[in-house]
Amino acid sequence: MQQTTRDFWNDRYREKTGETSGKPGLVLSQFAGPLVPGRALELGCGRGDDALWLAQQGWRVTAVDVSAVALAYASDSASRAELAGNIRFEEHDLAETFPKGSFDLVVASFLQSPQDWPRARVLARAAGAVSTGGRLLITEHASRPPGSKATEDTVFPTAEETLASLALDPRQWRRLCVCAIARTGTRAEVQGETVEDNVIFLERLG
Ligand SMILES: C[S@@+](CC[C@H](N)C(=O)[O-])C[C@H]1O[C@@H](n2cnc3c(N)ncnc32)[C@H](O)[C@@H]1O
Repeated sequence: MQQTTRDFWNDRYREKTGETSGKPGLVLSQFAGPLVPGRALELGCGRGDDALWLAQQGWRVTAVDVSAVALAYASDSASRAELAGNIRFEEHDLAETFPKGSFDLVVASFLQSPQDWPRARVLARAAGAVSTGGRLLITEHASRPPGSKATEDTVFPTAEETLASLALDPRQWRRLCVCAIARTGTRAEVQGETVEDNVIFLERLG
């Protein structure tokens, strides 16, 4: 029987015994840093460093993941940082259920899974949760990160291809950045190597 998304990620997070970096992703801090804080939704929050950072910046955060193991770690970190009152953690398999509400910022950073799953539909739903005047920020791999389990011949979509897969009405969205950016890898196995990420950063106009 094929492993479920939930089992896959719970197993993955059970293997992670070390602490997180405690730092936000570079794309998140670069693009969300200048925004005026409001309500934020983070999809696939993992062990919570980005959600905690958003809360520290003054955002009221709803942080979602399929893994109860990751959410427990994130929730403990939020309590220790005295940010629990500003972050609501919700467990969802986003292929099946989605958090309620609309948000000034919706973030999906490396929201991925090896299973066959309706990623484009989930990202389109994420766009639907952005309030008028709000922002959607998607970050994804644009090239194979060294040390990753992706095979050498894995084809990564361009930012334009991912955006097209969401089938958004272009009259309703301003493109703030639809591009690939290079960064220097920080995880031990990619330290110093250049990795490329796609960034899709949009403002909802109507
Ligand atoms: C590669 S990790 C990225 C974690 C974090 N956003 C980051 O940037 O480090 C992908 C995350 O997406 C979550 N995820 C994958 N599929 C999901 C789904 N169907 N529903 C909810 N979360 C999912 C995983 O549990 C995992 O925490």
